[in-house]
Amino acid sequence: MPCNLYPYRMKFEAKSFELKIPDFSEQLLKNHLTLYQGYVTNTNKLLEIINTLILENKNSTPEFAELSRRFAWEFNGMRLHELYFSNLGISNLKPNSKASKMLKDSFGSFENWEKHFKSLGSMRGIGWILLVYDKEKHNLFNIWVNEHDVGLLSNCEIILVMDVFEHAYMIDYGLKKVDYIEAFFKNINWAAVEKRLN
Ligand SMILES: [Fe+2]
Repeated sequence: MPCNLYPYRMKFEAKSFELKIPDFSEQLLKNHLTLYQGYVTNTNKLLEIINTLILENKNSTPEFAELSRRFAWEFNGMRLHELYFSNLGISNLKPNSKASKMLKDSFGSFENWEKHFKSLGSMRGIGWILLVYDKEKHNLFNIWVNEHDVGLLSNCEIILVMDVFEHAYMIDYGLKKVDYIEAFFKNINWAAVEKRLN
């Protein structure tokens, strides 16, 4: 299908992640990676369909409007998973690191930050818990993102990502979401977090 829209970025490729996380089973991680690949496929599919609708002058149709609205959902589903998988893996937070200092500056202490982040994670519903950096105020925020696209803060960098969709933990932890959150915290790759702040 010829494409006039996004001609240079038409295709996204699924990234490969070598995940060996002690507190998450191979099955859980395998399923999760497969699910992620679905978001990449659907992001590509949406771009292709939207482009076709434009080429066919169907840009005033409900299909065009609904699929265009759906784009951020699929795209963020892809990107948030990539950020999540990349910040998994044990690497301790260094006391004098930028991340450590900024967490203290923004939340008063690491413990305050952790308590707030975990509280958001324990809320009912599906979505993501993000630590984001507001470049304007030089401040970090913990936020709840509903599904993949509701609640994101504009012009903020995503620094740390925790998936709280049920597929992220049910296989290993059942309904014990709090245990999953504890496991996640034991397996944060703080080196990856630090890199995102620099
Ligand atoms: Fe997920």
